[in-house]
Amino acid sequence: MVHRSKITTLTEFIIQRQSEYPHAKGALTRLLNDIATAAKIVNREINAAGLVDILGTVGKENIQGETQKKLDVFANEMFITALKGGGECCAIASEENEKVISFSNEFSELGKYVVAMDPLDGSSNIESNVSIGTIFSIYRRVTEAGGGTQQDLLQPGVNLAAAGYVIYGSSTMLVYTTGKGVNGFTLDPSVGIFCLSHPDMKFPSSAHIYSINEGNYIYFPEGVKRYIKYCQESDADTLRPYTSRYIGSLVADFHRNLIKGGIFLYPGTTKNPNGKLRLLYECNPIAYIAEQAGGKASNGFKRIMNIEPETLHQRAPFFTGPRHMVEKLESFLQENPE
Ligand code: AHG
Ligand code: MN
Ligand code: MN
Repeated sequence: MVHRSKITTLTEFIIQRQSEYPHAKGALTRLLNDIATAAKIVNREINAAGLVDILGTVGKENIQGETQKKLDVFANEMFITALKGGGECCAIASEENEKVISFSNEFSELGKYVVAMDPLDGSSNIESNVSIGTIFSIYRRVTEAGGGTQQDLLQPGVNLAAAGYVIYGSSTMLVYTTGKGVNGFTLDPSVGIFCLSHPDMKFPSSAHIYSINEGNYIYFPEGVKRYIKYCQESDADTLRPYTSRYIGSLVADFHRNLIKGGIFLYPGTTKNPNGKLRLLYECNPIAYIAEQAGGKASNGFKRIMNIEPETLHQRAPFFTGPRHMVEKLESFLQENPE
């Protein structure tokens, strides 16, 4: 008979950790549980994507001018509903909504936190059965009372209280940090519980992957072009040439690079100088996890988490991975200013 050591569930783990925060009264615990519950519902719908009428578009565009998929809309609604009903969150910024969604009922406006989220990341991959995700950032509100406002959400990454992602892959995982390391939980679908499977995640030292949409090569800054060539050169000491891996879902690309060791790059281009990825709900939460896993996240010149956001949907060039890889990339950018 296989002997299993005790399983730690996500809920147990969060409660254990809560005792490390003397002033915590369980609000963040409940908020993370609300997110986990919504993630399970989204996961169920994703798993049934080929069976039910959920694939395809809804015939509308979101604020980024991107066509919304039915699952984008479904996931957005599920997370909003869970957070609104949970009572710990007083406002949300979502990729799918132009403005802040403020909860101004007597229950939710007492919430101490706000959430910025990408409810479904990598949605262009849904039809092809490729891993997709959800990304979330949690901040303490800065306003005193009432429904949360844009001011509560326009905070730099250094103010994050917690951040994480869910990856809907060959298994479904929730990975998060509250600033004391990164922990990963795998969903046991038979009982619907996230179980601690990846404690204290760190980038491995044997990093040898680079991840970039090389189809945009001609539009990249000179420093990025030269870094790509550096990745492709032979040098046994630095494990080069690196392996190229790119899925086109930030969550899936980052998660693989965290497990296997690699750098993710989404540079600015001549067409889009700030790149594609959104600071509040893509770059910052992934940056927090990267840093907590011993890595680094940069726009090439500056720490991502130090950028002061000005608008909800602003974008930033994004480079993240093991510290030594990101620093090498930064040196190429700094030696080749445009
Ligand atoms: P979303 O599905 O939330 O719009 O995000 C897609 C993003 C991100 O997941 C990925 O890293 C990037 O788009 C891929 O962009 P390219 O297709 O330009 O490589
Ligand atoms: Mn996304
Ligand atoms: Mn999205």
